[in-house]
Amino acid sequence: MNQAAPVSLLVIPGSSRTGSLNLRLARAASRIAEAQGASVHLLDLRALGLPLYDGDIEASEGVPERAGELIDAIVAADAVLLVTPEYNGFPTPLVVNAFDWLSRAPASGARPAGLKATAGKPVGLLSASPGPLGGLRSMNYLRQYLQMAFAMLVHPRQFALSRADQAFDAAGELKEEKARETVGGVVASLLELASALRAARAT
Ligand SMILES: Cc1cc2nc3c(=O)[nH]c(=O)nc-3n(C[C@H](O)[C@H](O)[C@H](O)COP(=O)(O)O)c2cc1C
Repeated sequence: MNQAAPVSLLVIPGSSRTGSLNLRLARAASRIAEAQGASVHLLDLRALGLPLYDGDIEASEGVPERAGELIDAIVAADAVLLVTPEYNGFPTPLVVNAFDWLSRAPASGARPAGLKATAGKPVGLLSASPGPLGGLRSMNYLRQYLQMAFAMLVHPRQFALSRADQAFDAAGELKEEKARETVGGVVASLLELASALRAARAT
């Protein structure tokens, strides 16, 4: 692999709703990552249109073809940044459902099985909430979930943006320098890990 190529970062927001604070944070983090030299791809999970996981759908139709887009995006990325709200202290159904489908996808042609694509892939965590904890509680579940079930390398650094409804200016930038620096630190650490892993795996 060409070590001079920029680190590629797949950014996955856990909410696609109009006005989503996490989508805003994902976009802000993407700009920060680009400023740090990464090439960024932001994936809209809602746009994949995956049905709610159902074993009968899987038995009759197989894994939806568009789950393959998530797999392809993960394969193409050196690292993943998941930016998700918490619903009742838990990651959103949008995230869990997409990863459930991914976990059921077998290898197909050049595309690896979903769980093969996630194994050993570095992933960073951000969250945002209007509340005082910023979605912090869901990250504990996410960390365990992504490591235990998907064999992903969850970076120790993470950031939960509290009072996120007041955190952005009209252009979608983080107003507080401290928040920008903290997001920048999470992103930089993730890119550094991804770059080191890429170099190690190329030898
Ligand atoms: C079903 C549901 C459960 C929620 N549970 C929590 C929660 O546990 N902690 C929290 O900080 N916010 C919670 N919220 C508020 C969300 O943080 C808030 O709606 C946030 O804006 C959602 O993220 P988004 O703006 O990216 O869509 C919940 C919202 C919904 C709809």
